[in-house]
Amino acid sequence: MNLKRLLMPIMLIFVLVLAACSGGNDSSSDDSSSDEGDSSSSDKVVKLVYARGQDSTKATEEIVKQFNESHPNIQVEFREMPSDTGQQHDAYVTALNAQDSEIDVMDLDVVWPAEFAQAGYVADLDRFIQQDGINMDDYNQGAVSAATFNGKLWAMPKFIDAGMLFYRTDLVDEGDVPQTWDELEKSAKNLQGKEGTKFGYLMQAKQYEGLVCNAVEFIASYGGQILDENGKVVINSDDAIQGISKLVEVAQSDFVPDNVNTFTETESHTAFIEGQSAYIRNWPYQWNLANDEEQSKIVDKVGVAPLPAGDEGSAAALGGWMTAISKYSEHKKEAWEFLKFMTGPEGQKISAIKGGLAPTISSLFDDKEVLDANPFFAEEGFQNALEGAVSRPVAPNYPEVSEILQINLSKAIAGDLTPKEAAEKMETQLKKAMDQ
Ligand code: GLC
Repeated sequence: MNLKRLLMPIMLIFVLVLAACSGGNDSSSDDSSSDEGDSSSSDKVVKLVYARGQDSTKATEEIVKQFNESHPNIQVEFREMPSDTGQQHDAYVTALNAQDSEIDVMDLDVVWPAEFAQAGYVADLDRFIQQDGINMDDYNQGAVSAATFNGKLWAMPKFIDAGMLFYRTDLVDEGDVPQTWDELEKSAKNLQGKEGTKFGYLMQAKQYEGLVCNAVEFIASYGGQILDENGKVVINSDDAIQGISKLVEVAQSDFVPDNVNTFTETESHTAFIEGQSAYIRNWPYQWNLANDEEQSKIVDKVGVAPLPAGDEGSAAALGGWMTAISKYSEHKKEAWEFLKFMTGPEGQKISAIKGGLAPTISSLFDDKEVLDANPFFAEEGFQNALEGAVSRPVAPNYPEVSEILQINLSKAIAGDLTPKEAAEKMETQLKKAMDQ
């Protein structure tokens, strides 16, 4: 840690000397040569396109606005991508495979960096970080390691997600919040129909990435794993099957929507803020959205708790997003300026206050305005959920791994496979995908 700090000034001198030697042309060690754009020497306004999934909060709009106001020579345009992370992934991969230079900056889901780095889709950020003396020790180390591949940093961590249980405080007293999945099932059944609700519980059970996150939580809460510490496929265990069985039981129950197998975050959070459910499993942004007077019918009626426990304990899936620069951007220097602003303290504060997103800069958890907007950030249950959050498998072929999980879990929810059969199929297919 300290070595990095010690080396920083030396690196800086090195960079400055290099710049001087090359007559101010800062073409770098990056293998794409003409990547810096031509704007530095002129007054021309550089236009950047920043792509990310649909933002149901006002955070992105505000970040772009503040950046554009303070950087008259760089103007960022926000390009909205599909909110489903898998669809968003495919849209980037199509554009990047075609070496499209249109998108300069984009958000990456926490499960993508290995793939994007290996495919050469994104620029490595080490030189920018050194040049600007950014101390990565200020960031959550789990998020930093998720953005690192082959020893290089490919994206800047923007926010961390961990699955949480949100409940209606007009229906559930704080002391009665379900502690286990069995208690949740009982309570959700009881509360369904009260105070105008249609459902007891909302989750994300469509065949997509969010289903993998919900499943990871069920599996881990019963002590199961998809891969063990050595990367070995261990999904066909009694513990994992118990977790999958509980996931299937909840998804097939009468207290979730009949079409829960079409629910992503968007469908579930919309139903929740319309007052349709007593409980929802979602990411931290749910709090901010539920208290947004312009959109929500349940303002001031929401509590947050750790997800219910299985026989092993409560488990949250680790999610989150980071921001990268496209390898094909013609304005990498300006792109870095925007990325630095958005993922630095100023930008992350806007994300936390306007978007309810949990910062990756650790000190922002002590910031009064951040805590006023998100009081539960200070709670032990939330901090524990963040610290203990369970990662999805890390692999450059993650989309293939995820697809195997999604397909078989969906079949189990549809009743086409028993949880045991689903676990066996996932085991065989994952072993093949991971050369085991
Ligand atoms: C959230 C998480 C992300 C996850 C996605 C699944 O956006 O931050 O990591 O993949 O949900 O839908």
